[in-house]
Amino acid sequence: MSCCASLISLFLFAFLTSVTVSAQDPNYVYHVCPNTTTFSGNSTYFTNLNTVLSSLSSRNASYSTGFYNATAGQAPNRVTGTFLCRGDLSPEVCRSCVAFIVNDTLNRCPNQREVVLYYDECTVRYSNRNFLSTLSTDGGVRLSNTQDITSNQADRFRDLVLSTMTQAAADAASSSRKFDARMANWTGPQSLYGLVQCTPDLTRQDCSRCLQQSINQLPTDKIGGRFIVPSCSSRFDLYPFYNESAVTTPTPPPVSTPPRSGKSGISSVVVLAIVVPVIVAVLLFIAGYCFLAKRAKKTYGTASEFDGDDITTVESLQLDYGTIQAATNDFAESNKIGEGGFGEVYEGTLSDGTEVAVKRLSKSSGQGEAEFKNEVVLVAKLQHRNLVRLLGFCLQGEERVLVYEYVPNKSLDYFLFDPAKQAQLDWSRRYKIIGGIARGIIYLHQDSRLTIIHRDLKASNVLLDADMNPKIADFGMARIFGMDQTEQNTSRIVGTYGYMSPEYAMHGQYSMKSDIYSFGVLVLEIISGKKNNSFYQTDGAHDLVSYAWGLWNNGTPLDLVDPIIRENCQRNEVVRCIHIGLLCVQEDPVERPTLSTIVLMLTSNTVTLPVPRQPGLFFQSRIGKDPLDSEKSTTSKSLLGSVDDASITDVYTR
Ligand SMILES: *[C@@H]1O[C@H](CO)[C@@H](O)[C@H](O)[C@H]1NC(C)=O
Ligand SMILES: *[C@@H]1O[C@H](CO)[C@@H](O)[C@H](O)[C@H]1NC(C)=O
Ligand SMILES: *[C@@H]1O[C@H](CO)[C@@H](O)[C@H](O)[C@H]1NC(C)=O
Ligand SMILES: *[C@@H]1O[C@H](CO)[C@@H](O)[C@H](O)[C@H]1NC(C)=O
Ligand SMILES: *[C@@H]1O[C@H](CO)[C@@H](O)[C@H](O)[C@H]1NC(C)=O
Ligand SMILES: *[C@@H]1O[C@H](CO)[C@@H](O)[C@H](O)[C@H]1NC(C)=O
Ligand SMILES: *[C@@H]1O[C@H](CO)[C@@H](O)[C@H](O)[C@H]1NC(C)=O
Repeated sequence: MSCCASLISLFLFAFLTSVTVSAQDPNYVYHVCPNTTTFSGNSTYFTNLNTVLSSLSSRNASYSTGFYNATAGQAPNRVTGTFLCRGDLSPEVCRSCVAFIVNDTLNRCPNQREVVLYYDECTVRYSNRNFLSTLSTDGGVRLSNTQDITSNQADRFRDLVLSTMTQAAADAASSSRKFDARMANWTGPQSLYGLVQCTPDLTRQDCSRCLQQSINQLPTDKIGGRFIVPSCSSRFDLYPFYNESAVTTPTPPPVSTPPRSGKSGISSVVVLAIVVPVIVAVLLFIAGYCFLAKRAKKTYGTASEFDGDDITTVESLQLDYGTIQAATNDFAESNKIGEGGFGEVYEGTLSDGTEVAVKRLSKSSGQGEAEFKNEVVLVAKLQHRNLVRLLGFCLQGEERVLVYEYVPNKSLDYFLFDPAKQAQLDWSRRYKIIGGIARGIIYLHQDSRLTIIHRDLKASNVLLDADMNPKIADFGMARIFGMDQTEQNTSRIVGTYGYMSPEYAMHGQYSMKSDIYSFGVLVLEIISGKKNNSFYQTDGAHDLVSYAWGLWNNGTPLDLVDPIIRENCQRNEVVRCIHIGLLCVQEDPVERPTLSTIVLMLTSNTVTLPVPRQPGLFFQSRIGKDPLDSEKSTTSKSLLGSVDDASITDVYTR
């Protein structure tokens, strides 16, 4: 497979081929009709082709599902044909697009047996081979906007595009229509729009593989682009190029990571040059772009379909104190299932049989009732498959209670650090847990309405559902407790030693990068089955992070792996995860990757990981039981230098 060698980038202008709703005719994008196998105008093939084409455009075709196949004749003159309409389009638009292409195909490809015609709205394909249910990535075409993303934003943009598209791909692959479109915040009013689609006759694995290849070929240095192959396509742009109101709220992404794409090769590619009247188009582009940006802004202001459940209101969340008392046997000791930094947690059953976890907040928060309610509503709107859902709250005098969905399998630490239970978490399970935690945090950090920094991410805050999928607990607590969210510097440290980044533990500076640090520690714990903050190794390392760093530098990272899973693990995955873990715990917060990058690193093994640098570390003189009290008397030390000399070169005291 000669990779992208023969691939030509077509510089088109995205808006020229975008939703111009008023235009009746579909927008032509590209076609592939290799000249190698032809038929003559009066042949059996021609007759069969006409049968197939009229069947595609007949009333019998399923325009509502957007995908249809038809066949006619016997080999070697058998013709198989399909159409695929873009997932957001109505059956009417789909029908007229197909009718148009069917009419158009013999002009563009008069006597070719194998044809793929791409239009913005739909794709028609036919061949003398039966290509149904077969992954086909031949004849790819890349379309790029001509405008570059400004260089100082290039990395962030690429991360956003790749993470958005990767998530969309995962959702599309596991949906029945094999389609997903979504929006993500870029800057200010400007949003990124992404769309992915496979032909629905593919399996989840094939669709995922196809999209991964397609996404890897996207021109992420431009403000918009697409990559199209017969089996799938992906596209991003900075304006809504699909019908937003036809795209329903995306379901939370599945935990399972898409299968690794193999070699991302695009073989026999048709080389086509399109001459574009550049100057005219540039002017048109600027005008069009401004118009669309304005429109995007306007649409954005009213669009709420990506924001989850908007019917969440104070009224729908507020529960009566009597209900809570009845559910928990009046906070009976036997119902108590845990004690966290913010209060005791009780198991309970509501009158309708719903099992819940009830958190009785230990200290009254520093804010009034109205603010408390507001924050609860905001946090309740954060809904993601990898987050424990907040179902309601209750206020009674000083008493403040939060009601969560009940997650049956306790927390990750319960399994991970118990020699009797560790074996229940084999490598593939642990790998899925890592991916799920990353997706949960990415949602908190950037995909939800609010930017939530967790600040206390640790194994005991990762709950496991009946299928051992991870669900992050205790997010948004700083908000509910009325802690300052805007100030990036805080004197009230919420966190757990062993998971806190040095800059947060020592200086109270928190950011998304401090969550990343905690995530890195968690990854190393999941791999090793050892706790970071109660780690004693005879060879001198006092904590898991330095131990992992030492092994890494020794070239023996696999020694970190929990012996119980060491025999049966995917070594490349494990090493990659250790690598990611070490990138996350680097001393300099700027060097730590963002979560979207991490998700990408986890899902695509074609991404090259940077070399990790010295991790940031500190030791505690005392482990604060109550996170809220943890600022009491703590000595933190920064360990610089390698594990071998274990020299503490810098000491900070708070
Ligand atoms: C297609 O084939 C015909 C005859 O074999 C040839 O004359 C023509 O140049 C070919 N066209 C392309 C685009 O290769
Ligand atoms: C089909 O066309 C070919 C030449 O194009 C001719 O030789 C042949 O006789 C035609 N057959 C019929 C049935 O018309
Ligand atoms: C549509 O379906 C009907 C009955 O199923 C069939 O008789 C008719 O031939 C079909 N039409 C086309 C164009 O396939
Ligand atoms: C092709 O169409 C037939 C009849 O409409 C249907 O039964 C079959 O499942 C379709 N095949 C695929 C791969 O979509
Ligand atoms: C098909 O093409 C013919 C002529 O090229 C045109 O008259 C007719 O309206 C077209 N039909 C459709 C559905 O576009
Ligand atoms: C967009 O989708 C909605 C809902 O399906 C539909 O009512 C509307 O007509 C569509 N708009 C366009 C321009 O197709
Ligand atoms: C995008 O950011 C704005 C604030 O700039 C926020 O109100 C909105 O909810 C965010 N939307 C998404 C989808 O993250």
